[in-house]
Amino acid sequence: LSVEDEQYLCSLIRTIPDFPAKGILFRDFIPVFADARGMDLLLEAFVRALPVKPEEFDYIAGLEARGFLLGTALARQLGKGFIAVRKAGKLPPKTVSQSYELEYGTATVEIEKNLVPEGSRILIVDDLIATGGTAWAAMKLFEEVGCTVAGFSFVMELDGLHGLDQLSHYPTSSLMVMP
Ligand code: PRP
Ligand code: ADE
Repeated sequence: LSVEDEQYLCSLIRTIPDFPAKGILFRDFIPVFADARGMDLLLEAFVRALPVKPEEFDYIAGLEARGFLLGTALARQLGKGFIAVRKAGKLPPKTVSQSYELEYGTATVEIEKNLVPEGSRILIVDDLIATGGTAWAAMKLFEEVGCTVAGFSFVMELDGLHGLDQLSHYPTSSLMVMP
């Protein structure tokens, strides 16, 4: 992207202090999707930064909910299928579940069991990686159903939380690091 385009894209990312809890600096890329030019620029930059070539994965998986926006748009652009990694209790059985640690407490994510063939190669995408717990849990789910994770790709990485550390055996990319 040109410097001007990059500045424009960054200007669309909103920061909300003390949401959803006191002390959290909430980073939100929803306004990027409300802006047609912003969406185009984000997808262009995201595709360019991918940690693996499109021929090295078969499906794109997105993490609920903001990862659905990014993931489906990207899947459409690259001609891939899209898999939703959902928060627990939203998908009908048969599902596989994985729990993981949040900054406070635990959470669970799920995928459908027989949605894609065994051996499929999956690129996992999300808007943001904080502790990396959600991305790690998604990886465990795909490995449990016999798929391979080709890599991880994020728009933002939160500085200081070392979220990418637990994904260090995989190719990863993020477009920007945010404090
Ligand atoms: C955010 C973000 C990631 C996750 C990152 O989702 O979109 O999925 O948190 O955190 P982690 O690296 O510490 O696991 P959130 O749970 O806020 O859900 P949403 O996309 O439905 O708003
Ligand atoms: N998920 C975890 N931490 C977050 C943050 N600071 N902003 C937006 N989403 C998040």
